[in-house]
Amino acid sequence: MSIKSRKEDHINICLKKNVESGQTGFEDIFFVHNSLPELNYDDVDITTSFLGKKLNAPILIEALTGGTEKAKKINKNLAWAAQQSGIAMGIGSQRAALDDKALEETYKVRDVAPDIFLIGNIGMAQLKKYDTDKIKSLIDMIDADVLAIHLNPLQELVQKEGDKDFSSILEKIRELSKSIAIIAKETGAGISRETASQLEKAGVSAIDVAGHGGTSWSLVEYYRGGIHGKTFENWGIPTAVSLIECLNYVKLPIISSGGLRSGIDVAKSLALGASLAGLALPFLQPAIKTKEHVLEKIKKIEEELKISMALVGSSNIVSLKQRPLIITGRTRQWLELRGIDVKKYAHR
Ligand SMILES: Cc1cc2nc3c(=O)[nH]c(=O)nc-3n(C[C@H](O)[C@H](O)[C@H](O)COP(=O)(O)O)c2cc1C
Repeated sequence: MSIKSRKEDHINICLKKNVESGQTGFEDIFFVHNSLPELNYDDVDITTSFLGKKLNAPILIEALTGGTEKAKKINKNLAWAAQQSGIAMGIGSQRAALDDKALEETYKVRDVAPDIFLIGNIGMAQLKKYDTDKIKSLIDMIDADVLAIHLNPLQELVQKEGDKDFSSILEKIRELSKSIAIIAKETGAGISRETASQLEKAGVSAIDVAGHGGTSWSLVEYYRGGIHGKTFENWGIPTAVSLIECLNYVKLPIISSGGLRSGIDVAKSLALGASLAGLALPFLQPAIKTKEHVLEKIKKIEEELKISMALVGSSNIVSLKQRPLIITGRTRQWLELRGIDVKKYAHR
């Protein structure tokens, strides 16, 4: 099966089937409500900066697609709305354009989004198949600010036509990081602190945890006929756990993603210390419709974030990061077993 039809399968399955599985861990985390916020909602400021770029909101449209006509429209709609909102955006895997120059157009969005923080994308398996210069050229292809390398061993292992040789990937990442800025991202199974430390030492600029609890690539591949997909639908590190592990063990900027579904999830991520909060699946339906639908979705998430901030008495993100958080249940157990003291979040 060609990469093009596989990409079409992915989009169609994500639109028609329930591809979400598990829990993110954010359901175990609570803010302490403030009945006397002493601020004006209209003054709540959600601007931030990421890797030196100023953003109007700490929100990232995560990598979704590319390589087909439908993907082209999706990317343009997402990018236009990202430009209007001043938020960051990732493009889907550029793999298809590495072999077919004609497909480059399906990834290019600078005509509608000249100023956004734009993230290119390629999978771990491609690092072995193409030389360093070819991989580096992905940035110029779309005039991106940085390249995301997606780590997706779960998906590759349950996919019928997956690439299953994961040896020497870290070395490739180290080599690339010497000349370009890399974001290492998962795709829904999370990044442990051990992996985060390896990536930090390899020289990546940021990590996107893309934890478990949202889109399950195992389920997507199950719907495509992968026989192990259903069995592994709940494999992975919940997003909140992965985020807290990474934030406690590495100094890099960390992006929270994987199952974030509202501005409250975004607020919790930021309060825990994330630099940005990313969402993929929630933007797919709007992007299939119109660019205005994407903009509406971004606005809704921003408002939910601002309401959450007002309800804990924070008029900016720096203040939000100091608010107490109560970490309970399975998330607390997991973190404590990994040696992280969750009481420090409740007492700050
Ligand atoms: C239709 C679809 C296509 C995706 N394609 C890519 C991709 O090409 N590269 C990548 O790094 N992640 C890709 N992802 C993964 C997302 O970027 C994200 O890590 C994951 O879906 C978890 O976020 P969510 O729960 O908000 O969807 C895709 C996700 C969806 C839903």
